[in-house]
Amino acid sequence: MNPFPAGFDLVTETVHIADLRFAITRPRSAEDLIDEAEYADDERLPYWADLWPSGRVLAAYLAEQDLTGRRILEVGAGLSLPSMVAMARGASPLATDWYPQSLEFARANAHVAGLGELSTMQVDWSSPPEALFDAGSFDLVIGADVAYERRHASQLGALLARVTTVATEVLIADPRRPDASALVQTLGDEGWSHMREERRAAGKPDEQGPVIYLHHFRAPR
Ligand SMILES: C[S@@+](CC[C@H](N)C(=O)[O-])C[C@H]1O[C@@H](n2cnc3c(N)ncnc32)[C@H](O)[C@@H]1O
Repeated sequence: MNPFPAGFDLVTETVHIADLRFAITRPRSAEDLIDEAEYADDERLPYWADLWPSGRVLAAYLAEQDLTGRRILEVGAGLSLPSMVAMARGASPLATDWYPQSLEFARANAHVAGLGELSTMQVDWSSPPEALFDAGSFDLVIGADVAYERRHASQLGALLARVTTVATEVLIADPRRPDASALVQTLGDEGWSHMREERRAAGKPDEQGPVIYLHHFRAPR
């Protein structure tokens, strides 16, 4: 039985991450999914339907780690490739996005990959559900290409403060978006430590070029 939501024109792409290989099914065109009413409401655009270079870089980084037993939260997960890799490396991540359809695709892709049941939750950074915080803090919070608008810095800053402890590592992959510096600034102003490394995106880069920043943050003591 086809596990993917009905009503989409689908395409399946094979994605190689280290020794892992996934067949990722997604809508053929994110552009075709643009809903003018949603955009008018909160400038929501269906970026979830693409696999972004930052997501691949973050997934490759996670593939190098032993994540056995680690509690992981992915924000702005879209198709959730990093969460799938985290599952393959022994973790039970919670993948979140504000688009429920993205989470349906993520669960279906994880299932098809034989990874089992991916936990998901619909989370809008501007009004996260209390259920997210009821789950307690996480060992690792990850996000790929999630700081591309000015408003994201304050929204993510507030959310991160509530799901982390000093022991939590926050890892954000960023294709050097101009607005990502606002997130670095916001967290820095609040006393978070920050380390940045550079990685190269494999395959065809997008308009930002092949260099992806991996920002490592830790909350203040
Ligand atoms: C550029 S896409 C990156 C998707 C995925 N992380 C990847 O790398 O392939 C940005 C993601 O953030 C999500 N997003 C944007 N604003 C959000 C918000 N306010 N709350 C939750 N998710 C949001 C989008 O739906 C989308 O999935």
